[in-house]
Amino acid sequence: MGGEGQQDACMISVDPTSTYCSPDSRRYSKGTFAQMTLYTFALFIHVVAVLGLFMAITIEIAALWRMRAATSVAMVREWSALVARTAPVYPLVSLLILLTGVYMVAQRWNWQTAWADIALVALIALVALGAAVNARRGQGIHSAAQEAPDGGVPGSLTRRINDPMLWTSVQTMMFATLGIVYLMTVKPEVVGSLVAMAVATGLGLASVQPVLRRPPAGRSAAGSARNRALPPEA
Ligand code: HEM
Repeated sequence: MGGEGQQDACMISVDPTSTYCSPDSRRYSKGTFAQMTLYTFALFIHVVAVLGLFMAITIEIAALWRMRAATSVAMVREWSALVARTAPVYPLVSLLILLTGVYMVAQRWNWQTAWADIALVALIALVALGAAVNARRGQGIHSAAQEAPDGGVPGSLTRRINDPMLWTSVQTMMFATLGIVYLMTVKPEVVGSLVAMAVATGLGLASVQPVLRRPPAGRSAAGSARNRALPPEA
């Protein structure tokens, strides 16, 4: 029973809003220390996977901007290949985030924890959106760029690159992920969590409006002139 008492002592010393036991808690029980070490390790993997997710989204957004400004099919091929190479990162990091997140909730929190439940639903929604929109349309651009003849970017490819659904999905995904980071760090109650996710999604939708309104470089008069002026590629 002494072990249980020691574990309680450790739990009492834990600030419920903090991830860690106090350094003194390491003295209390081997089991508790091992448990905390595993939890901390899971948190580390969780945060590394989150960094991977942000990296993949950032690469995708940067590549979309470069493809939007592209003046030749060769440029679109290059950037769409980067997006295609980044695509497998999404399922990998999503799985890591999910597994470590569920593990940490089971160990230290419970499923009545609003921010964790809402983050879980949001992550599943993001995975579904990513698979249905980003992956399919990204692959579509890549295949169309491979098939297009060398030279200026044809209208059909430009339309794929400027697909409003694709831009909306990618930008909203970035802001929604930031919203989840807010949930994870601030840990609001149910209303706060829902408001945070609604604000994040709203900001994502708003952030795409200027992109959708501004004519892409390849379609502007100057862009078209550049396209026409391009020499045929070898
Ligand atoms: C895209 C989705 C997610 C992102 C961006 C994310 C991000 C983060 C970040 C940045 C932290 C560190 C917070 C801190 O130490 O203050 C964290 C911790 C955590 N996350 Fe997530 N997370 C996501 C999904 C999930 C899911 C789906 C769950 C559970 C089902 C979850 C459960 C947890 C738990 C339990 C912690 C540890 C909280 C603590 O001990 O203070 N996460 N997450």
